[in-house]
Amino acid sequence: MEHPDSILIVDFGSQVTQLIARRVREAGVYSEVVPFQSAEAAFARIKPAAVILSGGPASVVDAGSPRIPQAILDSGLPMLGICYGQQALTEQLGGKVEKGDSGEFGEAFITVEDGCALFDGLWAQGERHQVWMSHGDKVTALAPGFRVVATSPGAPYAIIANDERRVYAMQFHPEVVHTPDGAKLIANFARHVVGLTGDWTMAEFREAKIAEIREQVGSGRVICGLSGGVDSSVAALLIHEAIGDQLTCVFVDGGILRQGEAEQVVSLFRGHYNIPLVHVDAQEQFMGGLAGVTDPEAKRKFIGKTFIDVFEAEAKKIGGAEFLAQGTLYPDVIESVSFTGGPSVTIKSHHNVGGLPERMNMKLVEPLRELFKDEVRALGRELGLPDVFVGRHPFPGPGLAIRIPGEVTKERCDILRKADAIYLEEIRNAGLYDAIWQAFAVLLPVRSVGVMGDGRTYDSVLALRAVTSVDGMTAQAFDFPGDFLPRVTTRIINEVKGINRVVYDYTSKPPGTIEWE
Ligand code: XMP
Repeated sequence: MEHPDSILIVDFGSQVTQLIARRVREAGVYSEVVPFQSAEAAFARIKPAAVILSGGPASVVDAGSPRIPQAILDSGLPMLGICYGQQALTEQLGGKVEKGDSGEFGEAFITVEDGCALFDGLWAQGERHQVWMSHGDKVTALAPGFRVVATSPGAPYAIIANDERRVYAMQFHPEVVHTPDGAKLIANFARHVVGLTGDWTMAEFREAKIAEIREQVGSGRVICGLSGGVDSSVAALLIHEAIGDQLTCVFVDGGILRQGEAEQVVSLFRGHYNIPLVHVDAQEQFMGGLAGVTDPEAKRKFIGKTFIDVFEAEAKKIGGAEFLAQGTLYPDVIESVSFTGGPSVTIKSHHNVGGLPERMNMKLVEPLRELFKDEVRALGRELGLPDVFVGRHPFPGPGLAIRIPGEVTKERCDILRKADAIYLEEIRNAGLYDAIWQAFAVLLPVRSVGVMGDGRTYDSVLALRAVTSVDGMTAQAFDFPGDFLPRVTTRIINEVKGINRVVYDYTSKPPGTIEWE
C-alpha cells in the first residue's frame, strides 16, 4: 500500500534494524523495514518520504556485497545511512571505504565539529556525546558534496552530511539505547530533515486496518487462531470489528498454557465479546507428539506445525473458511528472515511465522504484522480490552514447552504451571508486576538432593527468570528487593511436589535470550 508519509528502512542484515523502525515510529512516523533485495520494489510500491539504510554484517569492499538500489539513490529523497548504510552511500556516491584492521565495538565518544539539521535543539558544536559503535570497515574519503559534522578518535567521519541532497550518515548506531541521544537524532531526521509532522496514531491505524481487512476478506469467512496471549486476542478483536460474525475464533489448548489461561480466554471471548469461539482440547495430540523431543528447535517446529494441523481440521469442520488470521507481530516477521549475502542469523524460529502449508489452501490475515508489542497493547486498549489483560507479560507461542528444557510431559507441565502461578502471584502481591517486562519459571531437567523433614529428596530444580526490557531485543535481569526471592523459594518448595531447589537466572540478553529455548 502507498504510504507517502512514511520512511522506508532498507535492511542490510543488522541484528538491530527493527529498532530503527521503533525509533521512527516513536517519533510518530510510520515506517517499514524491507530487505535490501526487495527494496526497489517496496520503494516503488510504498512511495515513502525518505529512506534509512541500516547496518549489516557485509563489507562494501567485498565483491558482491549488497548495494543501495539505484532508483533510491536517484530519487532525490532524504536519506540516513547507518554504519553499513553510511559505507554503502559513500562508496556508491564516489567516496572511499576501507577495511579497518581492528574495528571499533561498544561505547565511544564523538565530538560535534559543526552544526547540522540532525542536531537541531539537541547538540552544539564542541560538545562530546556517547554513542554505540560496531563496525570493522570505515569511510576514508568523503563523497563529493559531503562534510564532516562529528568525529571520534576511531572514526574521523563519525557523522557526515550533504545538506543540499539532504543525505546524512553515521558510523555508529543511533537506534540502540547505548546511544542515549540516538532516538532524538532519528526524530530530527524524520521531522526536521524530511519535514514529517509525526502524527501517526493507533486510532488512524485501527481505521486503516479495518478498511483493509474488509477489502481483503469481502464476504469470506475467517478463522482466527487464539493462543491465549495478547497478540492473537487483539488481532481477533480487530477482525471482529471489521467483519463481525464472518469470524470464528479457534482456541487450541495444547496443554502448554499457564494456569487459568484457557478459562480466561473462553470467558473473555464468549462471555464478554460474544465472539463465536471453538475451544479445541488438543492436549493429547501435543503431549503425544512432544514425547521424546528434547531439541528446542524440534519442539518449536512440532508445535508450530501441530497448531496448523489442528486449525486445518477445525477449518474443515466449520467449513467454508478461506482465510486464517494470526497475531503475528513485526519482530516475528523480521527476526525470522534470513538474508542471503549478509545473513541476519536465525536465533529461534518463532512458531507463528513461516506461513501456511500450501495444502491448507487458506489465505493469511495478519493485521498486526507491522506492529511492535507495545503498539499492539496500545491498539488493544483502543479496542477496549481490559488493562489487566492488555498489560500481561508476553507469553511465547510454544508456551510452557520451551520452559521445560528436555522432554515435555503433562506431569512436568503441571508442576511448572503450579510453580509459575505462585511466582506470578507473589510478584503481583508485591506490586512488582508492571515494573517487570516478563517473569516466568523454567523447570530444569536437573535433579538435586535435598532434605525435607527427616527425609532425603531427589527432585527437580526450578529456575526463576524476571527481566526488564524495552522491546525484548535486549533485556536485563530484574533485581528483586530484600526477602522476595527467599519467600517465593520457600513457598514453591513447600507447595509444589516435585521441586526441591529454586535458583534465580541473572543472565542479560545478550548474551542470553529471554526464554531458555
Ligand atoms: P527470546 O527468548 O528470543 O525472546 O529472547 C524474546 C521475546 O519473544 C518471546 N518469544 C516468542 N513469542 N512466539 C512468540 O510469539 C515464539 O515462538 C517466541 N519465542 C520467544 C519471548 O517470550 C520474549 O518475550
